[in-house]
Amino acid sequence: MMLKTKVLTFAATIFAFSSLAYAQSGESTYKQVCASCHGAGVLNAPKLGDKAKWAPLIAEGQVILTAHGYVGVRAMPAKGGSPNLSVEGFADALVYIVNNSGGKWTAPDAKTVVAINKEIEARKAGLNKK
Ligand code: HEC
Repeated sequence: MMLKTKVLTFAATIFAFSSLAYAQSGESTYKQVCASCHGAGVLNAPKLGDKAKWAPLIAEGQVILTAHGYVGVRAMPAKGGSPNLSVEGFADALVYIVNNSGGKWTAPDAKTVVAINKEIEARKAGLNKK
């Protein structure tokens, strides 16, 4: 009984730490890559914290919005203009933006990352124009 409690506590601690790590990496990617436009609204980028602008985007859902942002939309450059940014890194930065702009997303799990990658391919192939 004691052991089981310890194991559960340990698992909860790991979980808390790993979600914290995710939150921090999303925040630092945001600051390094996205903030130059999304902080001040450069080129009419929806600003961090502008709930009215982000609400319809958030409503598209995490898979669609992450994939379309990653591929690039009009003045929004692919990968936020950072060629080495991974899908996961981009997704985490977007989670940070969304959670500071009226939404409540979590870092995508493996299944969601697969779906995002599929949507990226479809978007690139022009099969799924918005
Ligand atoms: C060079 C400026 C610039 C940078 C850097 C940038 N963005 Fe953007 N972003 C824009 C602009 C401009 C738009 C609005 C595009 C439009 O709708 O015309 C936009 C729109 C978006 C959208 C909405 C896309 C859609 O489907 O309408 C998402 C999501 C997004 N950005 C995420 C990010 C993330 C995450 C980063 C950092 C990893 C980032 N952006 C970095 C300029 C930028």
